[in-house]
Amino acid sequence: MLRLEGVSVDIAGASVLRGVSLVVPPGGRVALIGRNGAGKTTTLRALMGLLPLKGGRIAVDGQDCARVPAHKRTGLGIGYAPEERRLFGSFTVQENLLLPAEVLGLPKAELQRRLEAVYDLLPELRTFAPRKAAGLSGGQGKMVALGRALMVGSRAVLLDEPFQGLAPALALRYAEALARLRDALPDVAILITESSPELLRQLVDTTFVIERGEIAAL
Ligand SMILES: Nc1ncnc2c1ncn2[C@@H]1O[C@H](COP(=O)(O)OP(=O)(O)O)[C@@H](O)[C@H]1O
Ligand SMILES: [Mg+2]
Repeated sequence: MLRLEGVSVDIAGASVLRGVSLVVPPGGRVALIGRNGAGKTTTLRALMGLLPLKGGRIAVDGQDCARVPAHKRTGLGIGYAPEERRLFGSFTVQENLLLPAEVLGLPKAELQRRLEAVYDLLPELRTFAPRKAAGLSGGQGKMVALGRALMVGSRAVLLDEPFQGLAPALALRYAEALARLRDALPDVAILITESSPELLRQLVDTTFVIERGEIAAL
């Protein structure tokens, strides 16, 4: 369960998030919709502890995160697929998938178990596994970023505009993968941002709209 209560964030003196409250229950599929510059990425970065809060609180499964630094948030079981993917180009796909889970110090057998689970959910990644990430298309990279988030997201997964820039065929496969997550990960809270609600309509059960840093009524 992810809970934001009255979260405010300032960036460079501008108030970018103003009293944002939202909840993603265990197993919930929640969309955060807003146009460019509305504050979607800032909301996810605040959840990951990458930006200081000016006000409000963030809790994961009831635990207040105020004192959990960014590098420990993954350890809470939160996977994050940022908008711009951030893969290591000189690493293989499999190495990219493993990296955050290895940083957590998970035992080898657990790493292998999670990797197999991700390959079962996203079979294309098994075929990409030995390829260098630098050789992937933007859309393939998004799929890897999703897999990497799933490797550590035992409680929650945050996906920042996953459909942006995807060719229609790949967008369809990505949507199918998200639909499979629904059944395969019934307890994981999933928060997905997009600029338009259309692509997510079939995939989520709750939608929040953010406008100029504030949650708006639907
Ligand atoms: N590093 C930054 N420096 C200055 N302003 C920023 C920075 N990051 C975000 N902003 C501002 O914060 C607002 C929200 O940005 P963002 O969360 O990235 O929006 P979204 O992801 O919804 O497009 C925008 O108005 C943007 O200009
Ligand atoms: Mg953004």
